[in-house]
Amino acid sequence: MKRQSSRVEAGAPLAPAAGALVFAVGLLAASACGKTAGGPPDAARGRAAYMSNCAACHGPDPAKDGAIGPAIQGASQALLEARVLRATYPPGITPKRTTHTMVALPHVAAELPHLGAYLGSK
Ligand code: HEC
Repeated sequence: MKRQSSRVEAGAPLAPAAGALVFAVGLLAASACGKTAGGPPDAARGRAAYMSNCAACHGPDPAKDGAIGPAIQGASQALLEARVLRATYPPGITPKRTTHTMVALPHVAAELPHLGAYLGSK
């Protein structure tokens, strides 16, 4: 009796895990498409990219400091590119923080123009 019920419990988490895997593969496919599709900067797409890649550290509102990262509203396109793709800062930019907590996130490359549109970059 006891064994049977524990077997069912052990099997249950497999379904959500499989779902997450399908979702992850879907995301990869979507970002691969974005790279070739291009298109004009789209703030709504940028917001979605921000929420899934940046908000965990920078917080839900890019105009305010997040739990881990500083406010990045209005960050220039050059700063976004350097920081997100290479974990560096462009010449002439004074980093808000001297820490190096944020690693490069090169998989977000295709979203940078859209992120810029969302963040009001110049
Ligand atoms: C793991 C947490 C984390 C994630 C995820 C993250 N960041 Fe950061 N970010 C930071 C921290 C912390 C800093 C401050 C410098 C440092 O310690 O690296 C920072 C700094 C920055 C800066 C420089 C701000 C300035 O003016 O000095 C920009 C721009 C930035 N992040 C953009 C982004 C974008 C865009 C994303 C999503 C694609 C992102 N970050 C994802 C933690 C994160």
